[in-house]
Amino acid sequence: MAMDEIVCNCMNVTKGMIKEAVDSGAVTLEDVQNVTSAGTACGGCIDSIQQLIDEFTSTKK
Ligand code: FES
Repeated sequence: MAMDEIVCNCMNVTKGMIKEAVDSGAVTLEDVQNVTSAGTACGGCIDSIQQLIDEFTSTKK
């Protein structure tokens, strides 16, 4: 998946933006929602966002 791929269509949030949020300290879905607004409209992307958070937090450090 490319970093400029849109994860959340409602809020136009890319995979890269999720990664940035995690890199700057977000660890939960809520954190990422606060930072990027991803998943705050229809909610249909929540599962994908959570998956990315899991992926990014596990590869961090
Ligand atoms: S696609 Fe993310 S809130 Fe709708």
